[in-house]
Amino acid sequence: MEKKKVLFTETVLRDANQSLIATRLPYSKFADILPTMDKAGYYSVECWGGAVFDVCLRFLNEDPWQRLRDLRKNLPNTKLQMLLRGQNLLGYKHYPDEIVRMFVEKSVENGIDIIRIFDALNDLRNLETATNAALKAGATVSGTLSYTQSPVHTLKAFAKQAKEMENMGVATICVKDMAGVMTPQEAYDLISAIKAEVKIPVVLHTHCTTGMAYLTYLKAIEAGVDVIDTATSCFSGGTSQPATETLNYALKQMGYETGLDDAVLKQVNDFFKPIRDEYIKEGLLNPKMMATDTDALTYKVPGGMLSNLVSQLKAQNAMDKFEEVLIETPKVREDLGYPPLVTPMSQMVGVQATNNVLAGERYKNISKEVKAYCRGEYGKSPAPINPDVMKKALGDEKPIEGRYADTLEPVFEKTKAELAGVARSDEDVLSYILFPQVTEKYFAARKEKEEKIVKYTIAPVEK
Ligand code: CO
Repeated sequence: MEKKKVLFTETVLRDANQSLIATRLPYSKFADILPTMDKAGYYSVECWGGAVFDVCLRFLNEDPWQRLRDLRKNLPNTKLQMLLRGQNLLGYKHYPDEIVRMFVEKSVENGIDIIRIFDALNDLRNLETATNAALKAGATVSGTLSYTQSPVHTLKAFAKQAKEMENMGVATICVKDMAGVMTPQEAYDLISAIKAEVKIPVVLHTHCTTGMAYLTYLKAIEAGVDVIDTATSCFSGGTSQPATETLNYALKQMGYETGLDDAVLKQVNDFFKPIRDEYIKEGLLNPKMMATDTDALTYKVPGGMLSNLVSQLKAQNAMDKFEEVLIETPKVREDLGYPPLVTPMSQMVGVQATNNVLAGERYKNISKEVKAYCRGEYGKSPAPINPDVMKKALGDEKPIEGRYADTLEPVFEKTKAELAGVARSDEDVLSYILFPQVTEKYFAARKEKEEKIVKYTIAPVEK
């Protein structure tokens, strides 16, 4: 009999460090471990996309494209994986198809092998352009379902979407539980339902936040899941993923083949431990983030969103309204047609719920993002939007019929011309299109750094 297999995606370079230390790991801190990681036997290393791109430019003064090329060079035998928000790419709004295609092409050209593509609303039209471009560029596409619980998010609906993605030509289906709220039973049922519908491998992504993730993975594995996302143990737990070594150890004993080298996994963890300790000491890593927090189960609101609500209310000196806002949040989500609470929907729903409570009248103030959502600028809502809310948001204006990206004009050539003398590559132009102010600041810092280097190299040494 063929040995049962479960493969691992290591997330320390992306989601684990994004979840625990807000993606603040600079390339220079982990460069030395890459040749070792290259020998671990991971299915893939998730190392780019998500918040990495934005944080590189905004806080780390790093060119994200250079980081990707360096990763490629130092992980020659490992599949490099990125997370992409469909038509939003790595930004927070929809981009024209031209930009989506170019961005995906350049990602592959600079070293990406696997692109995990998702849409916050599971509107498959928002995955099409990126998926087709990635397939054309020769990448492996992981079609991704944003997991959430609601009356319209049934097993049947998810399985049907998985089948539709398989028909789009994706190589794997990923179920993405960004909030760590999927229970073991739900995982078993959902993975079984998807497995019955598609022939391609299925991947599960979750977070330890509520403490269920190890159990959830185990039940998903019983249902036949092929790949799981884990993080090296010192960067695991809490808002991050379950530990790589722990699951490898347990699964091997149960007769699963993981392809992982235990000795290498230990070296990887030994390398990251002092880095983790340093972040705790500096205060960037709050040990609370590594603990279990079951509030998300009680309130049905993801952990990250809860902390945002707290800071919003504190800023407005209205912490006494916390309980009320928590009760209002699921109601707003229902009114908006049960969007999964992931970026940017989690922010939109949270802010609207806060507005509703603080104004003392529901939908008296509607944010411009919620108006855009009602207009259809983010895609189709999972269930119809409450008609009263629609009326309050749009008045007599009609929502758009087709796909919002079809209304967007190409911008690349125009932007490239504007950046003449500043942008040094098409990649630079793409960075600017995604994050204009941040990238402008980065360009200036880059130039200043180079001038300094020149100055110090030509300056005579004083004795
Ligand atoms: Co995640």
